[in-house]
Amino acid sequence: MDFPDLIRKRFSTRKYLPNPIEPEKLSLCLEATRLAPSASNSQPWHFIVVDQPDLKEKVALQTYNRLISFNKFTHQAPVIVVFLIEKPKLITQIGGRIKKKDYPLIDLGIAAEHFCLQAAESGLGTCMLGWYNEKNIKKLLGIPKSKDIGLLITLGYPAVENVPAKKRKPLKQLVSYNRF
Ligand SMILES: Cc1cc2nc3c(=O)[nH]c(=O)nc-3n(C[C@H](O)[C@H](O)[C@H](O)COP(=O)(O)O)c2cc1C
Repeated sequence: MDFPDLIRKRFSTRKYLPNPIEPEKLSLCLEATRLAPSASNSQPWHFIVVDQPDLKEKVALQTYNRLISFNKFTHQAPVIVVFLIEKPKLITQIGGRIKKKDYPLIDLGIAAEHFCLQAAESGLGTCMLGWYNEKNIKKLLGIPKSKDIGLLITLGYPAVENVPAKKRKPLKQLVSYNRF
């Protein structure tokens, strides 16, 4: 698939078929994620693939509550991947403090998009999730208290016929040349 087509094909999938994901396709997504760039090549991440159905249901329950229920669709996805932030190299920690930049969070965002683009290329749907009960998910998955979750990603075959139209600001509102 052409890269511009792939970019247009990826969308936040919020309806999934119950079909399981082929292990080879999941491996491709994880490999694409592994190859993502990161500040000082620190690779400050760990990925927990939650594919055991009962456990995945428990994780899905932690992505919404009675008041904020927009993530209820997570129950449909056969897999949820947890993107954990690990400590970067010392040089990156020092650089981040001096430059006031959260390099690991930037790195994780790039890795997450690698995952989602590879998934789209394989005919799979994804949705990045920034809304979840971090404390409860850490307990469920045995993640040490000292570690932070950057985001979750649902993965599965989309139960959506057509790719929804992209709602984006026009380029002329976003780009300037040579000065702000
Ligand atoms: C960091 C981040 C957190 C997000 N959190 C959620 C979420 O909790 N629930 C959800 O349904 N979508 C979530 N999204 C998806 C965005 O809403 C979506 O990417 C955006 O509306 C653009 O639509 P598209 O991905 O279909 O192109 C998140 C996306 C990002 C990058």
